[in-house]
Amino acid sequence: MSAPSSQDGVSDQNALAQIELHKALAPRYAYRYSFEFSRLFQQDWHAEMISHVPAGAKHILDLGCGTGFFLAELEEKHPGSVGLDISHEMLKVSDQYVPGVRLVTGDAERLPFQKGRFDVVFCKGSLHHTRDHVAFLKNCREVLGPDGKLIMSEPCNDNPIIRAARAILYKKSQHFDVGDQGFTKAGIISLCEQAGFEVTLVKKYGILAYTFAGFPDHLGILRYIPGNALITKLFIGLDRLLCATPVLNLLGFHIVIVGKPKVGA
Ligand SMILES: C[S@@+](CC[C@H](N)C(=O)[O-])C[C@H]1O[C@@H](n2cnc3c(N)ncnc32)[C@H](O)[C@@H]1O
Repeated sequence: MSAPSSQDGVSDQNALAQIELHKALAPRYAYRYSFEFSRLFQQDWHAEMISHVPAGAKHILDLGCGTGFFLAELEEKHPGSVGLDISHEMLKVSDQYVPGVRLVTGDAERLPFQKGRFDVVFCKGSLHHTRDHVAFLKNCREVLGPDGKLIMSEPCNDNPIIRAARAILYKKSQHFDVGDQGFTKAGIISLCEQAGFEVTLVKKYGILAYTFAGFPDHLGILRYIPGNALITKLFIGLDRLLCATPVLNLLGFHIVIVGKPKVGA
């Protein structure tokens, strides 16, 4: 499938901007996952998300699957998942991690799937790249069955320092689009509710390990430190404690949110 057809001006412009942006990002993602320590962090993050898949779920969609590292781990536990991304360049890298998995080039704002087709929709870091968040989430709801689950992880801006840092990074860095944004906890819950979801779980994720191990393409200091895999494991453990502690969890960079379709919505 090629670029999406024209329906809505803002979404269309953004879709093209995202395709362009991610052309350059695809090799950076491959680099991001090429270190043992960064893979350890990403694997922990993915395990956290995958732990919310209900028993018996068979049909799973990873919306905005990018270069497919998450999908590869999902596939080990739940074979037969489908990945969709707007960027063909990102999906080309996916082939390397998940050969044989069904990958679809398409726009999350216009999903090419039957209603009720999936038991689970994952969305790791793709919602904030779209402009009409409620429409995006409504699309997720539409392709989920009545007992389906939405499992997301998105950048969290509850902490004013993180919010400011992110705003600067998104504005200044060529690796982000200026319209991309993080969410507050209250804000993302409200978006989910507006789209017809009942939110069943919200937790912060990622502080030290996120900063130092997650993105060697942005911050590569751990590459030079011996024992970086061990340090990452330590950070992951510490982060778990911090994220489970009221107030300290304001340091969390991401928010994991699980929802189910609201009855009658
Ligand atoms: C931050 S990356 C995350 C990729 C992957 N989930 C991961 O965690 O490595 C966001 C992804 O969302 C995709 N994306 C952005 N807008 C999209 C849209 N409207 N429809 C589908 N994918 C989109 C981008 O191409 C990119 O691969």
